[in-house]
Amino acid sequence: MSGFTGAKSLEALNVAAFRLKTASLDDGPAITEPTAAMSTFSNRQPASNQAALARFTGTEMAPCERKASLFDDGHGTAVPFASDNVSEATRALVEARVNKIPGYVQLFAAVFADVKNTGKVSFTHVAQAIAEFEMSLSFASAPIDMYARGDKAAMTDSQKRGAVVFFRDKSCVSCHAVSGQSNEMFSDFKNRQIAVPQIAPEYGPGKGNFLFDGDTCDQDFGAFNSAGEDVADKESLKYKFRTSPLRNVGAQPTFFHNGAFTRLEDAIRHHLDVAASVSGYDAAKAGVAADLTVRKPSNQALLNDVDPLLRNPVNLSAQEFSDLVEFVRVGLMDERAKKENLCKLVPKKLPSGLIVGTYEGCQQ
Ligand code: HEC
Repeated sequence: MSGFTGAKSLEALNVAAFRLKTASLDDGPAITEPTAAMSTFSNRQPASNQAALARFTGTEMAPCERKASLFDDGHGTAVPFASDNVSEATRALVEARVNKIPGYVQLFAAVFADVKNTGKVSFTHVAQAIAEFEMSLSFASAPIDMYARGDKAAMTDSQKRGAVVFFRDKSCVSCHAVSGQSNEMFSDFKNRQIAVPQIAPEYGPGKGNFLFDGDTCDQDFGAFNSAGEDVADKESLKYKFRTSPLRNVGAQPTFFHNGAFTRLEDAIRHHLDVAASVSGYDAAKAGVAADLTVRKPSNQALLNDVDPLLRNPVNLSAQEFSDLVEFVRVGLMDERAKKENLCKLVPKKLPSGLIVGTYEGCQQ
């Protein structure tokens, strides 16, 4: 694991998504259930790389003001920096903690033969377990898939009309792609600059522990930060973020990389006129948590270089807009991804004895 500098993790997860074949919207060989797709993906390598290569480098996590106490907001043990890269130290810490808890070692031994033999859990086992869990959460059997498989009643008329808006020339599908390598995941997996309004947390003990980019420490440079030093046109990556896959997006409480919007309608409307959306943006009105409304980052730089596909406003009638929202919210929703089903996955207790986190929407 040593010597890792560039950011490979996003690519790794993208590759994982590419491997999932679901319904037959394009002409590749179709696998109708994600579970079947998983059997073609036996070692889960891309997703376990994602887990194993999680970035903890100083430049990635605190680009603005490099602090050795980066992970210390006064509540825990600071992880020491080792030559500008805390990854090794962080992994070693995780490994040591897991091995100290017999309940975890037993659980790992039950699935990994080498843990059973040696009694020792390595960080790679942890990464593979996380990957396995992530892959079990790919739900891609929505009304649109059932429709594509021949059940013409699976989509409502409104969803069908919304799909037409979504797929027609140069609209949503240009970026939220479904064919070829996109593999029906509603993303081209490219980094794009769509001028999502910036929000930044307050910084300090008991508040956020994350400083952002730029002179004011409140800008998020996006893909620029995760590009290795050797990338030639690094500057052009500023403010770019990966096109989000849209499956099950209706179950999300917030939208975009930073959660700048809390209503799906607002996230979709942003695309229709990015300049108007950015200039009229008010974090409190968008419904984001109070601690994200205090700092008000400038959005000026965003508007200079918006993706050409979104430079001109798109006019949709009220009917077209509500159909489009209905298609994205319900037409792409797999029932298994609903919170009633996901909340059941939260364990009652943890081998560490630590308190189980509370998950929004899952409290009884
Ligand atoms: C120029 C490419 C592009 C086009 C065209 C585009 N999008 Fe997006 N979309 C993106 C990118 C990039 C993101 C992620 C941005 C981020 O995270 O900051 C995104 C995010 C989203 C999200 C939020 C997803 C999430 O997980 O939070 C929704 C919803 C969405 N797009 C819907 C649409 C719809 C509907 C259309 C058509 C009206 C559309 N998009 C057209 C690039 C595009």
